[in-house]
Amino acid sequence: MLLCAGALILGQQAKSSTVADALAAIDPATGAAKDTTTVFDLDAIVSVRTTLADGKVLAFIQPVGKPGLAVVATGADAAKFVPRNEMTLKGQLAAGPFGWAVLNVQAGSVNVEGDNKPFGSSTPVNGATFADASALAGKFVQLTNVTFEGDKFAVKSGVKVKDANGAEVSLVVSASVDGRDVPAGGQNVYGVPVKVDGGWKLLAARFLPVTGKATLTLAEKYTCTTCHNPDAKVVGPAYRDVAQKYRNDNDAVSKFVAQMDAGGTGKWGPVPMPPFKDKVPAADEKQIAEWIWGYRWDWILAE
Ligand code: HEC
Repeated sequence: MLLCAGALILGQQAKSSTVADALAAIDPATGAAKDTTTVFDLDAIVSVRTTLADGKVLAFIQPVGKPGLAVVATGADAAKFVPRNEMTLKGQLAAGPFGWAVLNVQAGSVNVEGDNKPFGSSTPVNGATFADASALAGKFVQLTNVTFEGDKFAVKSGVKVKDANGAEVSLVVSASVDGRDVPAGGQNVYGVPVKVDGGWKLLAARFLPVTGKATLTLAEKYTCTTCHNPDAKVVGPAYRDVAQKYRNDNDAVSKFVAQMDAGGTGKWGPVPMPPFKDKVPAADEKQIAEWIWGYRWDWILAE
């Protein structure tokens, strides 16, 4: 009897759990929550964040290499859902904005533990995958080598990309991208497949040019990577953070080229960056600068 009462009380408290425990409480066939009473107490990394039409934030929290869990947050809690933040949070499962279950974040339960945290590599997919992406639901994927349809984002009429075989995929993006120029040329789109109105779409977290890997190799060749990592601060700032600062600055690319030519100090702290003029050909400088600025989408898509 005593044991029973103890278990009941424990059941009402937040119990430390994993994303996998919360996912196990969702019916894989229907996407509906089987358990809406347990308070899950999670430690997780944010992979994707988007603002819905009603102002609420929909995010995925992503265990390394495994399916993530959709969460919905509002107000001050929502502001903490910055992609790559590691955080602890509590919440209960409920029907989400697209029908399937999400974890509704308990107000005031979010604590940020760190930023720029990696959550593992992405599964490469193509347009055909989205005919039925159920096997990849909640996984962080890379839709490889697509081009955007149209010149500018028109969120209300739908955002679409096309792969090399002509297969179209619809993207879910925040209204914040509306009216911006779409990224030019072949892109890899990173994000999580989600089912919306019966069809599979990609909830987008990052756009990077298909030349990104080759450009990283250039950055290695010119020793940039001894001081910079795209996603983490080393001696110099993370390229992601540089891109955040310049996300709305259309002169960013020429400013980055100027920094490579002349070096600089004081913008990110007292440590100086040495000049690279005559060590890096102008065309390579431009390619590297454009790649660095490409990380602005991490932030624009999360606005
Ligand atoms: C010896 C270390 C070091 C190397 C090598 C280095 N950087 Fe930097 N970089 C820094 C530091 C430190 C800063 C911050 C400077 C500041 O506060 O103004 C910086 C800043 C930057 C910025 C931000 C500029 C801005 O306007 O905010 C860019 C872009 C950049 N580096 C690109 C590069 C590229 C590309 C290379 C290779 C060609 C490179 N860096 C090589 C240390 C380095």
